[in-house]
Amino acid sequence: MDTKVVVIDRTRTGIAAGPDEGTDPGTSGLDALLAEAAQILRSGGLVAFPTETVYGLGANGLDDAAARKIYAAKGRPSDNPLILHISAVRELAPLVRRVPETARRLMDAFWPGPLTMIFEKSGIVPYGTTGGLDTVAVRMPSDPVASRLIALAGVPVAAPSANLSGRPSPTTAQHVIGDMSGRIDMILDGGPVGIGVESTIVDVTGPVPVLLRPGAVTMEMLRDVVGEVAVDPAIAGPVAAGVKPKAPGMKYRHYAPKAELVLVEEDGRRAGEGGCGDAAVDTINRLVRERMAEGRTVGILCTDETKDRYPEGVVRSVGLRASQESVARSLFAVLREFDDLGVDCIYSESFARDHLGQAIMNRLTKAAGYRILHC
Ligand code: TXA
Ligand code: MG
Repeated sequence: MDTKVVVIDRTRTGIAAGPDEGTDPGTSGLDALLAEAAQILRSGGLVAFPTETVYGLGANGLDDAAARKIYAAKGRPSDNPLILHISAVRELAPLVRRVPETARRLMDAFWPGPLTMIFEKSGIVPYGTTGGLDTVAVRMPSDPVASRLIALAGVPVAAPSANLSGRPSPTTAQHVIGDMSGRIDMILDGGPVGIGVESTIVDVTGPVPVLLRPGAVTMEMLRDVVGEVAVDPAIAGPVAAGVKPKAPGMKYRHYAPKAELVLVEEDGRRAGEGGCGDAAVDTINRLVRERMAEGRTVGILCTDETKDRYPEGVVRSVGLRASQESVARSLFAVLREFDDLGVDCIYSESFARDHLGQAIMNRLTKAAGYRILHC
């Protein structure tokens, strides 16, 4: 299959990249560009598109066969359900059996934006979209390109991250082209995304909302709005054999680079902020020397603050430790870069687990297959 790549010039269409910067999405220049993509979606095809979190791989979410094509394109297990993307709050009601009060408060606070909520599904949502579940995940993205595409398609758009299953989520169109060329109908290139980690997922079907995946709508922000929020155990550590995590995707080794990744975390007061101090830097340098002596190519995932303290190895900074936003934005791109460079193993600094750090550490520990070396 030929994959058409369409570059969206956000300046020409009058819309800005990144979260919360959208202007009026009714821009006609943008509509002309997106009309063809919307038509592909309506007729059962696959279109990758930018959102404020990561790139999504979209299909008509009410068309069972179209949604199933997504699993084939990604090489994804079909028991892993998809998120339905909508462009206006009124599009939610037909998809769900009820909208609980907590959900209303959360959507007032965070939609459009990087928050996905799990509802009891209505009869029109096919099981091909929900991986056989009676619940459905719904999100209203804020990226104006995503929002306008969904509105023009006129259907809820089922979209997982637009990566091959098991690869880090794509944060640029180049990542999508690398994974999806020849497998899907169209890729909309809207430039690098603003956030860089996937949306926060909250299950609102029970009496207390449950955080299933941390993201840019942080635990602190959720608690400010709804008070008590529980945390699914799958966020903290590996899912035990036989246990079914609430978000089925949490059981797979997601976000994984090809090389073996080990997180180095400094315990106690010496660590200073976020598990990385002098001892972590020294430990990483020692491990790098040991691996290089064995003839292995070693990557180091670090920050702007420490990058000059690693004399050997392939050193890549994910941004400023002091800016969690910068780290989240670059994390997946750096993991992919290590893949492209063909390093054998990666040692990574650790980060604080508060605010956006909870999402950063969740993705990193999963990428590491929970290999954390304490020092
Ligand atoms: O930011 C995002 O959420 C991106 C963009 C494209 O919107 N999408 C995304 O989709 O990350 P995906 O498929 O890579 O991750 C969806 C996660 C999976 O872990 C899946 O198991 C969970 O959402 N999920 C979907 N439907 C669910 C449901 N009904 N109940 C529980 N978890 C669900
Ligand atoms: Mg994904």
